[in-house]
Amino acid sequence: MFGAAVIALLLCSQASADALVDGSYEAGKTKAIRCGACHGPDGNSVNPQWPSIAGQHAPYIVRQLEAFKNGERTNILMTSQAMTLTEQDINDVAVYFAAQPAAAKSVADPGLVEKGQALYRGGKKETGAAACLTCHGPTGRGNPAAAYPLLRGQHAPYIAATLRAYATDARKSDGATKIMRDIAKRLTEDDILAVAAYVQGLR
Ligand code: HEC
Ligand code: HEC
Repeated sequence: MFGAAVIALLLCSQASADALVDGSYEAGKTKAIRCGACHGPDGNSVNPQWPSIAGQHAPYIVRQLEAFKNGERTNILMTSQAMTLTEQDINDVAVYFAAQPAAAKSVADPGLVEKGQALYRGGKKETGAAACLTCHGPTGRGNPAAAYPLLRGQHAPYIAATLRAYATDARKSDGATKIMRDIAKRLTEDDILAVAAYVQGLR
């Protein structure tokens, strides 16, 4: 396991992101125990349908938990979990999971890398889908301040499922801007599978 020095180092590297969320790492660690059943004790989930949240930006985690509470996002497993969290609980678990190291994965389907990479880096000219790297960054690290989520190393099946959810307006957590709903509607099922495979392998 990780020694105190390593944890301190990780907390330091997360300092700028965590400064945006007023939560307690220690309190979050205790409150996060029940989350581990699905997301893994350290936020690295083993079921590819359930998102990993280790190393995810704290402001984005906060936004998503609020979205599950207010119905902009619904999920049979997750909504009931979010409903029981107070604002302070949300901040605490967000700070805890943001400080966990995310496990790197390999590309889901090597046959899809080329197409996935082209979409990720260049977008889709024919339909006007913006390049993913503009917001999620060249290596999928996202942008904490803008609540652009980290994508690298995320399970491809979850990425694909959530892009379909945006495309059908089942997920509305992108708010009034509809950034992701607009982009997902411009992708075909083949595009979604390719970009999801590529994203899983980013590190
Ligand atoms: C019973 C299983 C289960 C438990 C327990 C659970 N979750 Fe989830 N969680 C899910 C699933 C499934 C999703 C994906 C929902 C979707 O596809 O929209 C999810 C999504 C999320 C997301 C959004 C991730 C993203 O990348 O957008 C966050 C954040 C989250 N959960 C945090 C938590 C926290 C914090 C707890 C503990 C308080 C918790 N979850 C407990 C199943 C669970
Ligand atoms: C203009 C900025 C922007 C661009 C371009 C963009 N995204 Fe996003 N993306 C966002 C924002 C903001 C969110 C968070 C929305 C929310 O809260 O639901 C997001 C969320 C996501 C999520 C959900 C992550 C999770 O953990 O649930 C996925 C997957 C995703 N984007 C994939 C893509 C892909 C693939 C592309 C390129 C085809 C892309 N994005 C292009 C801004 C962008």
